[in-house]
Amino acid sequence: MIPESFKQDLLNRVDIVDVVSRYVQLKKGGANFMSLCPFHTEKSPSFTVSPVKQFYHCFGCGQHGNAIGFLMAYAGMGYVEAVKDLAAGTGMTVPEDASRQRPKEQTDREQDLYAVIERAMEFYRAELKKSEPAIAYLKGRGLTGEIAARFRIGYAPDDWQGLKAAFPEYEDKALVDAGLVIAGDGKRYDRFRDRVMFPIFNARGAAIGFGGRVMGEDEPKYLNSPETVLFEKGRELYGLVQAREAMRTSSRVLVVEGYMDVVSLAQFGVGYAVATLGTATTPTHVGKLLRLADEIVFCFDGDAAGRKAAWRALEVSLPLALDQKPLRFLFLPEGDDPDTYVRNHGRDAFEHLAGEAQTLSGFLLGELRAGNDLATPEGRSRFLSVARPHLHKVAAPGLRLQMVKEVAQLARVSQEEAERLLEMRVTSAYARPAPARVQASPPLSPEAQLLRSLLTQPNLAAELDLELFDRNLPEGRAVAALAAHCCQGGWAEPLTEAQLIEAFAGSPHAELLERAQASLLEIEMSPEVAEQEFRQIQLIRRIERKNEEITGLSGAERARRIQELAELKRQRA
Ligand code: UTP
Ligand code: MN
Repeated sequence: MIPESFKQDLLNRVDIVDVVSRYVQLKKGGANFMSLCPFHTEKSPSFTVSPVKQFYHCFGCGQHGNAIGFLMAYAGMGYVEAVKDLAAGTGMTVPEDASRQRPKEQTDREQDLYAVIERAMEFYRAELKKSEPAIAYLKGRGLTGEIAARFRIGYAPDDWQGLKAAFPEYEDKALVDAGLVIAGDGKRYDRFRDRVMFPIFNARGAAIGFGGRVMGEDEPKYLNSPETVLFEKGRELYGLVQAREAMRTSSRVLVVEGYMDVVSLAQFGVGYAVATLGTATTPTHVGKLLRLADEIVFCFDGDAAGRKAAWRALEVSLPLALDQKPLRFLFLPEGDDPDTYVRNHGRDAFEHLAGEAQTLSGFLLGELRAGNDLATPEGRSRFLSVARPHLHKVAAPGLRLQMVKEVAQLARVSQEEAERLLEMRVTSAYARPAPARVQASPPLSPEAQLLRSLLTQPNLAAELDLELFDRNLPEGRAVAALAAHCCQGGWAEPLTEAQLIEAFAGSPHAELLERAQASLLEIEMSPEVAEQEFRQIQLIRRIERKNEEITGLSGAERARRIQELAELKRQRA
């Protein structure tokens, strides 16, 4: 767990404009920065970044968040990864559990290893320019120099200690730790020799390892960097950095098996492909990709090995699938892989095929049916029992319901019977709300107005009289929660909106707060106006209350209240 105070401190120090600018070209427009939205395709800019409020908002698609949220949504980082990334930029060190604390030397060491791998990459690239056979090999596989440069492809020379040319300090342990040099009984030698080198980048664009391919028939065909402190195969995806732009414009990502598949698809105009690194698809992979694209297409060879790999990807995906983001499975004709297919048939044919990929439910039910004869009662009941564990894994409520219906139909039972037999609860605890969409705003309730002024001027929370407001309204509850948070105290500096986003992320109030923040971006309320609005609303409520009290009273008591009312009305004027 990262301490709350650290996150708040961090958000105070980073500037969201710098963070977003690393990925998106922003233009100044009034108090804010604008650009075409990196999360959806549009013709005129509705993506807004506020340097004052430290959050971004898209008026087109409703994407909203602070600097941490941006790195997660755009760069596909995990939460901790995003916090660490921001911290690194400000020179802050993320405090960790004492048990997992890493000494500073280790952090420095990692920095060294990044530099080592980058230097090796540049060395291999320079060597490629000098190696005619390597250039011929790549040309023979249909690649242009431009694509080779885009993927930073290189060549490791046929030399036991080739890296000595780039690293005079060849004995340095860092070369071993980076996975570039192998040390054994007093001898040291390069891991990669006479191979075409494919550098692997992390989501931040730093090189962290390599895959090296032989040019002839030698074994192994691909040699990969070992897992190092920088490189964990189950987390990384080859080609992610290069695919990002195309993933954004197509809203789709294609997951393939090989380095050459990614590069070759890019060469032929399919830029949104990434590859797992010789490992099965992991939940981390799927989670990362779901944050980056609206549709995932897993692409496998049509042979038995491909179907087996696809089934593993399916099992990993069932709990992660979302109702609004379809996952699909594409099986290529036997004997083809994406590289050969796109080379022989071209981009259109490949995309046509991808467009017809099987749905996740189609693939699952197809496989389950295949083993059972649905023409017999025994086959149908067995089908139900093998479907059960898979359906239980599906967390997306809509998808789960649809699949239960489908299974029921195939098994010739009613939906109710199926639900009972399968012990399904149709609503799911994992249900996630759909992202908020921007809509024409109806007149604001006093509670909603209050929310706006509190967001603009959190200090006002101390003056809030909660008794005056309706906590049956969601806005009323959000106001109460917000005020409680602001009054809790102990915040180092006045709370910013970015910090409030962080504090309420995932809470029942998050969506309301987002909407209020978005409306504030448009009206640019000043703290003074917020203060006025806040006081007016409270005053009006007090007057209303007083009026209600008066109607039920008579005599002296009534006269006293009427005087109080007059006083309130004077304040209002
Ligand atoms: P393939 O054997 O399908 O190779 O391995 P490929 O992608 O078609 O490669 P080309 O077209 O012959 O160049 C798919 C992936 O499995 C991993 C690599 O990540 C490779 O891209 N692999 C394969 C290895 O790590 N080592 C190997 O020896 C073979
Ligand atoms: Mn291939």
